[in-house]
Amino acid sequence: MHILHVVGARPNFMKAAPVLRALAAHSGVRQTLVHTGQHYDAAMSDVFFHQLEMPQPDYNLGVGSGTHAQQAAGVMLTFEPLVRECKPDLVLVYGDVNSTVAAALVCSKLGLRVGHVEAGLRSRDRSMPEEINRLLTDQLSDLLFTPSADGDENLLREGIDPAKVHLVGNVMIDTLVRLLPRAEAHLPADLPSPYALVTLHRPSNVDDLPWLRELLDTLADLSGQLHVVFPVHPRTRQRLNEIASSHGAVAHLRLLDPLPYLEFLALQSHAAMVITDSGGIQEETTFLGVPCLTVRENTERPITVTHGTNQLVGRNLQKLSEAAMQICNRDSIGYTRARRTCELPLWDGRAAQRIAQIIERN
Ligand code: UD1
Repeated sequence: MHILHVVGARPNFMKAAPVLRALAAHSGVRQTLVHTGQHYDAAMSDVFFHQLEMPQPDYNLGVGSGTHAQQAAGVMLTFEPLVRECKPDLVLVYGDVNSTVAAALVCSKLGLRVGHVEAGLRSRDRSMPEEINRLLTDQLSDLLFTPSADGDENLLREGIDPAKVHLVGNVMIDTLVRLLPRAEAHLPADLPSPYALVTLHRPSNVDDLPWLRELLDTLADLSGQLHVVFPVHPRTRQRLNEIASSHGAVAHLRLLDPLPYLEFLALQSHAAMVITDSGGIQEETTFLGVPCLTVRENTERPITVTHGTNQLVGRNLQKLSEAAMQICNRDSIGYTRARRTCELPLWDGRAAQRIAQIIERN
């Protein structure tokens, strides 16, 4: 069986790595890896391939940055002739980035079978580009691999044939489980303690400059209580460059370049709290038992909230400050958290093996 994987952006790599490994252990499976080039900086791509021990891509489509239409069209135009020539039996796409939906659309028009890893997540917020990508990719897919039962419920509600849906667990957590023991050795040196770890890259937070300024002020206030360590995504770096000279708050934050996987995992596991707008980080902190404050109005990963590690603070900066102070106070009175005792069903490091078994049967 010939399986072709399509990855494009940073969060795809952590999801594809365990599936590539699990399928490599099955005899009679041939694999081809296509990188669309949506993310291309060494710090956003190459270093992840290295640390996650992924094979080098067989093809790189070199699509790069652009508007959503440019990115999706770039993937479609370059991927179509390639996939026609490769004639895979199954194409696996990951997560919810522009590369995911573009590759799925090409394949479904060519009558090729598509499997979606991390299917069924819904924020119910169509102003998020990722929500559109998730809805469409799931409609186009023949095999839908969900990380948690809420994903199955969402898909059934949208009329997807239940025979296509497979609850397998969380592949991103597969990677975390495998690499957490190695992460400790990658903890950045001269780290201040205690610290809050911050990541922000959603257009809704960083492209709205007046809002970004207020958010930075709130983080600067928090730095009176604990250090604020902030690895900066390229999109966010551009915005900070636009406002930094006129905005003193930035001086109170420890800004870092984007970090490799192991360094970032080590930072997460030692953080007093994480403040983020990422999807995957909500899940990783849940597994690690680290309090997470999510600067979004909604989440496609509600299980992280019901589990108790994640709080949505929305666009309410007072709520963000109060929740952060509460965590600081809780820690200062000796509250010990249940670290690494995640009991979410199927978040056990074996989701990719279940995917490989299902693919073999289908
Ligand atoms: C994309 C995904 C988002 C995911 C995020 C993870 C979509 C719609 N968005 O957002 O879901 O959470 O990746 O990082 O697919 N840039 C660089 N170097 C790179 C890549 C990007 O400098 O290697 C800069 C470019 O200026 C680019 C900007 O970052 O315009 C945004 O990149 P893009 O891939 O369009 O979206 P992300 O914000 O990274």
